[in-house]
Amino acid sequence: MAELKSLGSLSPTELNIVWHQHAIERTQRETKNGHKAAVLWFTGLSGSGKSTLADAVERQLFAANIQTYLLDGDNVRHGLCHDLGFNESDRQENMRRIGEVAKLMVDAGLVVSTAFISPYRADRQRVRELFSDDQFIEIYVDTPLYICEQRDPKGLYSKARAGEIANFTGIDSPYEPPISPELYIKGEQPLAQSVAQIIDYLKLLKIMNS
Ligand code: ADX
Repeated sequence: MAELKSLGSLSPTELNIVWHQHAIERTQRETKNGHKAAVLWFTGLSGSGKSTLADAVERQLFAANIQTYLLDGDNVRHGLCHDLGFNESDRQENMRRIGEVAKLMVDAGLVVSTAFISPYRADRQRVRELFSDDQFIEIYVDTPLYICEQRDPKGLYSKARAGEIANFTGIDSPYEPPISPELYIKGEQPLAQSVAQIIDYLKLLKIMNS
């Protein structure tokens, strides 16, 4: 009785949907593009520099003729996730949607970067499981809270401190740092150094040519 269960809890079989095997596979797209597809999953506090770094990396990838796209937290929340807030379950749903979109983009042969706080370990793990080991690159941008707060580029930390925003990550909502990310970036180091660290890793994985 499909009507009695929420749709999200139903299996594809219960929903009478069958996977359609595409005529063109990801590997064919990768061969045509001349590079492997992957997701660069940036995580860190608001103001840690995720978006700036992801932007700078994408610029280099683009210049190297790599098919790329960047999904950014604030931007995605203007559209695809505009119905979601910042409590734990909404952030979980935010991650789930971004993970699925990133998966489609990897399937399309892209190197997709995502810049979301993605504060919960379990949610990041669920996304990781959508990909093969060599496709998912977790990049922890570790900038101490006091520096993010000093930067406060959108004035949100001061609003959160004043009690005007609830559930603000780092203030009254947790951030669970990755335990073994593929890449650890010290948020206070110069941008060029962080970009180089990521590009070197992508060359090592042969996602970029040396
Ligand atoms: S996530 O936790 O669900 O991954 P996401 O990256 O999409 O967050 O959005 C974070 C951005 O939303 C922040 O950079 C900030 O600009 C804004 N924001 C608004 N309210 C909050 C809040 N309560 N906690 C964190 N970020 C918030």
